[in-house]
Amino acid sequence: MLHSPRCPKLGKYERAAMRAAGRFNAELMDVVRQHVRPGITTGEIDEIVHEYTIQHGHTPAPLGYQGFPKSCCTSVNDVICHGIPGDYRLQEGDIVNVDITTIVDGWHGDQSETFLIGEVSPEARAVTQCAFDALYAAIAALTPGCPVARIGEVITELAAKRGFSVVREYIGHGLGRQFHQDPSIPHVPTSKARRERLGPGVAFTVEPMINVGQRYTTLDKQDGWTVRTRDGSLSAQFEHTILMTEEGPEILTLTEHGPRPGHQF
Ligand code: MF3
Ligand code: CO
Ligand code: CO
Repeated sequence: MLHSPRCPKLGKYERAAMRAAGRFNAELMDVVRQHVRPGITTGEIDEIVHEYTIQHGHTPAPLGYQGFPKSCCTSVNDVICHGIPGDYRLQEGDIVNVDITTIVDGWHGDQSETFLIGEVSPEARAVTQCAFDALYAAIAALTPGCPVARIGEVITELAAKRGFSVVREYIGHGLGRQFHQDPSIPHVPTSKARRERLGPGVAFTVEPMINVGQRYTTLDKQDGWTVRTRDGSLSAQFEHTILMTEEGPEILTLTEHGPRPGHQF
């Protein structure tokens, strides 16, 4: 992998470009966070994402990506990921993940947060907390050159401890000039991930999807995108773009306004 063009080690200039892309994406999430509340539709969230991105001269990566019809993903309750924004109006008790990816001067930033809509069930709160804690526990465990599998080990252990399951079919990924590139970042340990390492200059996402019930998924046959839990249980996710540096992992998609490690939902 060291010399693979599909997993380039970023130099000084490229790291700065990735930092700028992550920063813009995180500022957009700060805007979105202020609007997600009972009564807003997922389509209106998408409009906010689209308008803000275009007005700043950047590009929403999801729009047209492999035919995806909108500028972000909105995944409500039992939807694990890739929900398509539309007419659904968020209501008290829902949880919704908003996943935003922007292209800034050719470089990608990618992140998601799950939001609690008003008062939610203890189960909804707990699975959201678990996904959040799993993301930050995985990041905290990273060191320069560590195996990719460290991420899956930490996330799997935490989810098991809280009685939840980890989705396997959808994973984190390298990113840079491309939306999805090497390395693959599974959220459970795999033999390939034990062999691969995260050296300085690698940019990638960590984006654990945690289910209240079983880990299994179904893909919506009608729209070809929406991924749900097979058993109908709730699912939550958080995502950051990370740059591994000589000093350790750097979170690129966080401003001073985003929730920090230890945040209680
Ligand atoms: N943002 C998602 C990820 O974290 C990918 C969405 S692909 C799309 O990798 F086409 F649905 F936008
Ligand atoms: Co994403
Ligand atoms: Co991603």
